[in-house]
Amino acid sequence: GDVRLWGGRFADGPAEALARLSASVHFDWRLAPYDIAGSRAHARVLHTAGLLTADELERMQGGLDRLEKDVADGTFTGTIADEDVHTALERGLLERLGPDLGGKLRAGRSRNDQVATLFRMYLRDHARIIGGLLAELQEALVGLAEAHADVAMPGRTHLQHAQPVLFAHHVLAHVQALSRDAERLRQWDERTAVSPYGSGALAGSSLGLDPEAVAADLGFERGSSGNSIDGTASRDFVAEFAFITAMIGIDLSRIAEEVIIWNTKEFSFVTLHDAFSTGSSIMPQKKNPDIAELARGKSGRLIGNLTGLLATLKALPLAYNRDLQEDKEPVFDSCDQLEVLLPAFTGMMATLTVNRARMEELAPAGFSLATDIAEWLVKQGVPFRVAHEVAGECVKECEARGIELDGLTDEQFAAISPHLTPEVRSVLNVPGALASRSGRGGTAPSAVAVQLGEVKTDLAVQ
Ligand code: ARG
Repeated sequence: GDVRLWGGRFADGPAEALARLSASVHFDWRLAPYDIAGSRAHARVLHTAGLLTADELERMQGGLDRLEKDVADGTFTGTIADEDVHTALERGLLERLGPDLGGKLRAGRSRNDQVATLFRMYLRDHARIIGGLLAELQEALVGLAEAHADVAMPGRTHLQHAQPVLFAHHVLAHVQALSRDAERLRQWDERTAVSPYGSGALAGSSLGLDPEAVAADLGFERGSSGNSIDGTASRDFVAEFAFITAMIGIDLSRIAEEVIIWNTKEFSFVTLHDAFSTGSSIMPQKKNPDIAELARGKSGRLIGNLTGLLATLKALPLAYNRDLQEDKEPVFDSCDQLEVLLPAFTGMMATLTVNRARMEELAPAGFSLATDIAEWLVKQGVPFRVAHEVAGECVKECEARGIELDGLTDEQFAAISPHLTPEVRSVLNVPGALASRSGRGGTAPSAVAVQLGEVKTDLAVQ
């Protein structure tokens, strides 16, 4: 039979080519449980408004229960002929309740307010799922930092040796970024807790339905839309979700890139666990960081999902336009990608072996203690401009001799500047350099311990 929701004014059914273009049921089927929840809430307000008797309401809820079960176990599925999930489920209800009762549910609602509501519900659930997976990654990184609390490494700027830092300090920098992403998800969730149900096609309903009751029923803490046009036409909640997921992807890609570099023969800072790395079909010796590479690659895909969606929304006039059907696949994909990526990524980070000897050997290399000479001179009363110059001379001397800073003799120091007494050696070692940066947020073990405590407290409430 014709399942179209709009057959009345049409003499002919849709052309095959139109039906195929129009169909979204193959990707919006995942909204089915939310659609049924929405229908339950809608049936209740129809009853409150006197449009369904108590008996009808009860039979309606019974039909929705059966439909829900059949959807869950796969007995009932949508087809291309249904066009979308909403139409398919209406058919399912009609099949279970007959046209007289089944046909009453559509009063006062439109697929436009339905889809805007269900999409919010779906994304809110997935924001929580992704937030949970993110917390597991943060915990793995905190564990990595804690287990290597005293390991020094070369801190870099421009990928060049800059100043020694604690490995834990570096790892916690990534945790800070992920904490902001988690906070973004929570704040987005709060902003998205508004239900468009009751907005109808765009103008609201004349049937005396109570959108606030539906909103409360469906768990929208901030009630129903204050503007039915906005309720049906706005998708900034989708764009923002796509941004947050893209940002998570980008933050993962920055960790990933470092893991890839650290895992090279040249760096040899880390070794990946066998269970979280892959081999080569031809080169027997290979052990590849594929998880990190997929994270790097998928971040591009997540950015694409965001930019594609923004392009769809640009200049779209109010209210609903069918272009909006293009809003779902990109963010469904963003959810899917992160939900498959995050557990693997967490596994990789949780099982990483850190090569402490290699990191510590390189920590002072590349004259990374030159700043410490300059700051030591400042403490002796030398103006920083001069101190910087003198420390630079030390580096020049070392480069010419092919040695590191602590290889200079007392005589060579004295020849560079009379201020460079043998006491300068007190800062020419990594533990001294680290410990001296003890202000808030610095790399001293004491400061990193404070940060670790803060991060753990934050994670506990997240
Ligand atoms: N499937 C559509 C979407 O995802 C909702 C249906 C609204 N269709 C319509 N012709 N008003 O946006």
